[in-house]
Amino acid sequence: MGIAENRRWLRRAGEARLEYGADYNPEQWPREVWPDDVRAMRAAGVTIVSVGIFSWARLQPGPEQWDFAWLDEVLDLLHGGGILADLATATASPPPWLTTAYPEILLVDQHGNTVWPGGRQYWRPTSPVFREHALRLVRELATRYAGHPALAAWHVGNEFGAHNCHDYSEDAATTFRHWLRHRYGTLTVLNRAWGTDFWSQRYTDWGQIIPPRQAAAQINPACLLDFQRFSDYALREHYRAERAVLRKLTPAIPVTTNFMVMPGVKRMDYAAWAGEVDFVANDHYVTPGPQARDELSFSANLTGNLAGGQPWFLMEHSTSAVNWQPVNLAKQPGELARDSLTHVAHGADAVCFFQWRQSRAGAEKYHSAMLPHAGEQSAVFRAVTDLGKRLAALHEVAGTARVPADVAILFDWESWWVAEQDSHPTDRLRYHQEALDWYSALLDLGVRADVVPVGSNWERHRLVIAPILHVVPDYLADRLAAFVDAGGHLVTTYFSGIVDQNDHVWLGGYPGALRELLGIRIEEFGPLPDGVSVALDDDTTGTLWTDHVEVTDPATEILAGYRTGDQAGRAAITRRAVGSGSAAYVSTRLAPAGLATLLPRLLEPAGVASELPPELRGRVELAVRDGHRFLINRTGEPVDLGVDGLLPANGVAVIPR
Ligand code: GAL
Repeated sequence: MGIAENRRWLRRAGEARLEYGADYNPEQWPREVWPDDVRAMRAAGVTIVSVGIFSWARLQPGPEQWDFAWLDEVLDLLHGGGILADLATATASPPPWLTTAYPEILLVDQHGNTVWPGGRQYWRPTSPVFREHALRLVRELATRYAGHPALAAWHVGNEFGAHNCHDYSEDAATTFRHWLRHRYGTLTVLNRAWGTDFWSQRYTDWGQIIPPRQAAAQINPACLLDFQRFSDYALREHYRAERAVLRKLTPAIPVTTNFMVMPGVKRMDYAAWAGEVDFVANDHYVTPGPQARDELSFSANLTGNLAGGQPWFLMEHSTSAVNWQPVNLAKQPGELARDSLTHVAHGADAVCFFQWRQSRAGAEKYHSAMLPHAGEQSAVFRAVTDLGKRLAALHEVAGTARVPADVAILFDWESWWVAEQDSHPTDRLRYHQEALDWYSALLDLGVRADVVPVGSNWERHRLVIAPILHVVPDYLADRLAAFVDAGGHLVTTYFSGIVDQNDHVWLGGYPGALRELLGIRIEEFGPLPDGVSVALDDDTTGTLWTDHVEVTDPATEILAGYRTGDQAGRAAITRRAVGSGSAAYVSTRLAPAGLATLLPRLLEPAGVASELPPELRGRVELAVRDGHRFLINRTGEPVDLGVDGLLPANGVAVIPR
């Protein structure tokens, strides 16, 4: 698992600056509009646009027909305006002539139904026919634009796996079998890894293995896990194939694709993808609700750490409302800039939106853009232009790395996938929410934390929080134990350390892989029904989960016990001292308020304190890049920063350090 070291950033000459722009879809507009687009982009301070993401049908109108004239003109106009192009490979959505001629490129769902064209991204990642046509298009584009002065980066596909992550077709079945053969070597090993003696599933021939299509009862969970791993891999293979063409024809141009590090999107293991891109790029849309702002920060933070702490590219977010939530709320004054600058605070060196000009037609016509239906005489365009000026003024931030925090929250895609599978003690468990709750609690206390992939170098942090670290192979258990032995402080929660990499339970009592390290033993889980909560004797409240915790090591102290519920009188939160380190366990869901009560008792022994003065803790978020501190208002009110002035509601102050 490789974490990007930001091998290459945009290809461009000149001084460091923060890039600013959007997806640009000129094919949706008459060509008379294009020069005006470039003029308005310049007025807004735009420096880069992503072009051609959904242009395949226009670039290749038929099997042997190509039309690049319009794109030539667009790229020339952009270059004339001093605007760079993040040029798409245009393979995200194949044209109707291709899907009609080759219906075998279409995705097949779990029930065996064809996923028809009519939307977008309906191609199957393992189709050799799709691959051939896609690579041909990439070759044509790369050959034609290799020397174009506007070309700054390649944008491969779009949001891999957004709509086509899981394909159950025959192509998928064949490639899945190859992948399994490579992973396990023999059927004996696969049968053991999948536990196929359960329910008479033992395979005697590779051809008997199929993707986890709709079945009569629960599907083998190890098969589900491997199919998820495989589906992620299959898309990465397609990305790599396009990248190989680009690297050959345009070796100096960096290649990327846009991730979706967001709460609802758990399909791709971005820690694995981060090693495949020349710079990390992410799309983020706000999830409405009380933790909306914290979640934005959490995603930006994780993205920054996927990028190895180095600058990354915010490829898409929204200027105002999206169009795909049940009710799509417009952003309040100041939010556009605050959201953008929060990403910058966490290492983004580019702030881009979906999209430049709001569409008149199509499924996204009510999605906001930089230039809305109302035109340039609008609050959104004024906010966009103001942000352009602000980003230009912040040019000194460009290129600077994130400054690591003392606290890390471990994030693990495999634990996310497995902990939320069915047939578990509860189907109410939410991996991402638990991790976000710890992050919110730390923000409430004014303590900076890094959200880091479990495969990264987290040993440098003093306190490592591993919420629902469900999948713990033995090498990870060893790594966690070595960290604590060396004086590190670890905190983990309910349903952690339960299974190995094959989703086999560690035996002898929970939390198997971490039992000795934590100095506890659990014989049975105690999930809680909806609406039921338990009181702890530190006056916090637990929901969702409890455990019947037995303390097995004299060095394990009870930090809090259950006052009510089935576990009343027993330990709820424990900590085992190991030399100058410790390993703590939280057996229930405390939510941000409860975690904020608990955290000081975990932070203090780790020697971690807030870097903010007491009056600012919880009211502002602090994020630090080399050379600058970012103070982000978390309240709806102005906040007095003392010598640093007044921070308006939704305001972000960027202060040299
Ligand atoms: C993204 C996608 C864009 C646009 C946007 C709308 O997922 O990459 O093309 O659809 O969402 O929010």
